[in-house]
Amino acid sequence: MQPFDVVIRGGVLATATDTVKADLGIRGETVAAIGENLDPGKREIDARGKLVLPGGIDSHSHIEQLSASGMMNADTFESATTAAAFGGTTTVISFAAQHVGMSLKTVVDEYHQYAERGAVIDYAFHMILADPREDVLEQEVPPLVKNGHASLKVFMTYDQLKVDDEQLLNVLQAARDNHALVCVHAENHGMISWMSKRLLKGGHTAPKFHAFSHPRSGEPEAFTRLISCAAFIDQPIMIFHVSTAEGAAVVRQARGQGLKVFAETCPQYLFMTRHDLNKPGAEGAKWICSPPARETSDQEALWQALALGDLQVISSDHAPYAFDQSGKLVAGETPHFKQIPNGLPGLGARLPLLFDEMVSKGRFDVNKFVQWTTTEPAKIYGLHPKKGTLAIGSDADIAIWDPDKSVTFTDEIVKDRSGYTPWKGRTVKGWPITVLLRGQVLVENDTLRATPGSGRFLPRMAGKAAEPLGRRAPELGPYDN
Ligand code: URP
Ligand code: ZN
Ligand code: ZN
Repeated sequence: MQPFDVVIRGGVLATATDTVKADLGIRGETVAAIGENLDPGKREIDARGKLVLPGGIDSHSHIEQLSASGMMNADTFESATTAAAFGGTTTVISFAAQHVGMSLKTVVDEYHQYAERGAVIDYAFHMILADPREDVLEQEVPPLVKNGHASLKVFMTYDQLKVDDEQLLNVLQAARDNHALVCVHAENHGMISWMSKRLLKGGHTAPKFHAFSHPRSGEPEAFTRLISCAAFIDQPIMIFHVSTAEGAAVVRQARGQGLKVFAETCPQYLFMTRHDLNKPGAEGAKWICSPPARETSDQEALWQALALGDLQVISSDHAPYAFDQSGKLVAGETPHFKQIPNGLPGLGARLPLLFDEMVSKGRFDVNKFVQWTTTEPAKIYGLHPKKGTLAIGSDADIAIWDPDKSVTFTDEIVKDRSGYTPWKGRTVKGWPITVLLRGQVLVENDTLRATPGSGRFLPRMAGKAAEPLGRRAPELGPYDN
């Protein structure tokens, strides 16, 4: 038998289901053995007193992407995936973002080029459809899905990106025909638009009014409409970034009816409130994202929804903009809230924030931490078991966590290109100290060991999550009366 290339020795291994003290042996790119007293490896990593976890999977991240207003966000694939690697994440699903008039195929090709050039972790793409024309849905989507882009994304709000209900139905039908999952940013666009105009007209322009401009009732309304459309077509969906208790309740009701509705939330909805936007001058812009952070009671409701299984995934929704004229302050030093690009950096901070709350502070346990941040997204998006767990034959994507290491977030430790962190001043306990991707050391001793472009594209087939129930609405035929 060939010797192991790497043995991670003496750590506590945890997956979504089990925790066990064991050695882990790697041959080539995959996990080859898990057991006691494994034979020596060519390289030995001492993991005594540490937790050995599968590398995290961030399934919602905007990288090198043109925003709703046509602005490029702050990151390249190199900077974003470097931040991810330092935070224990080894796979990212970002977006190939079509805007109106564009060919989806051309867009996907471009994002592949950006990622091939810079990514240091493995990656896949959700395809954003802002212009779901007949030619796009009929000619471009089928080969793209076959080539491993097994999820489509639409926005129900943002002036330049939103689809109306008829377009949404077209996308749901195209996804069903091609076996892809549909991910949705679901908020009531009319309510946001109406409230924004009303606030600005009344002189309420500061960043904190962004939160008021996204009425909380716009979330359950859009979820209900979306779920009705998806149930009508019999197409599974993923609802992105649930922010309110009422939104989570709508998801719960739909799942209670047996509908294939998956849902995620993000650290900003678990740890921030709308009061974080209330800062002097334009400072609050650093906390502007959509949907906005809500109330502490929503945070509790979201944790409960995770515990009940109504929400399955915690992603970052990383959408970085620097706090200068290239980003948040593109409209000047005193922008009104509508002029500020939406989004927060979060790829690097997601796992440490959640480890601290769930494992160190004991709100849940390490298995739930792995489940919601890693294994569930791998399963839902068609990456499992290659990614998302520690098992013989899985890619050796591994984050070794020091459960005792405390770190205080500062703007200086941020590895992405936003130049600030909305978590500044927050101290977390537990930090990923050594990270491996496919058996190669990616991060150790606070140093990146990978070269730009070493990350690989992960072609995905949609799998079980995107399989229809077989319960289509009666109106869809046959037409026999
Ligand atoms: O504010 C956010 N989340 N910006 C990124 C785009 C989106 O809405 O997901
Ligand atoms: Zn969104
Ligand atoms: Zn997003």
